[in-house]
Amino acid sequence: MSRRELLVRLVWGCRAVLGLVMLVPGMAFLLSPLKKSGRGTSFDALARMSELKVGEPRAFAVLKDLRDGWVKYPREPIGSVWLIRQPDGVDPPVVALTAECPHLGCAVNLAADGKSFLCPCHNSIFSLAGKPENTVSPRPMDPLDVQITSGPDPEIRVKFERFRPQADRRIPLA
Ligand code: FES
Repeated sequence: MSRRELLVRLVWGCRAVLGLVMLVPGMAFLLSPLKKSGRGTSFDALARMSELKVGEPRAFAVLKDLRDGWVKYPREPIGSVWLIRQPDGVDPPVVALTAECPHLGCAVNLAADGKSFLCPCHNSIFSLAGKPENTVSPRPMDPLDVQITSGPDPEIRVKFERFRPQADRRIPLA
């Protein structure tokens, strides 16, 4: 093999190695959206049964690990959920309602007397079951799926989702 051929092979070899070295982060970058944590696709543990009293709604923040490009934001609040423990023998034992108002998305609060929910933005009123008690909201408060573990003090897990405001039925947002 001549010296020229050796040099050409060396150059091609270096190019191949460089190409491989650049391919790995390039593929990782292209595929990174697939690994991003999704919102609303899993159940999150929000509370223990012992933290709830029957018929007394309590709000819990939903925390998720978020990622924006290369930056991670651990345990960021992405929403809030009202949990209402039901009397013994009622199924489901805990009702979860998202705190986002179905009218325009403001945060729904508990009334001072604890007997209804109200949204301060345009005065929507809801029963503790989430049913509208005036005509402001186009639909009831949005219920969320709940999982309850077994054991002496079960964990309450909720699948947090967002729904389109102002619609008369639940339409999940992507
Ligand atoms: S956003 Fe709740 S009443 Fe309008």
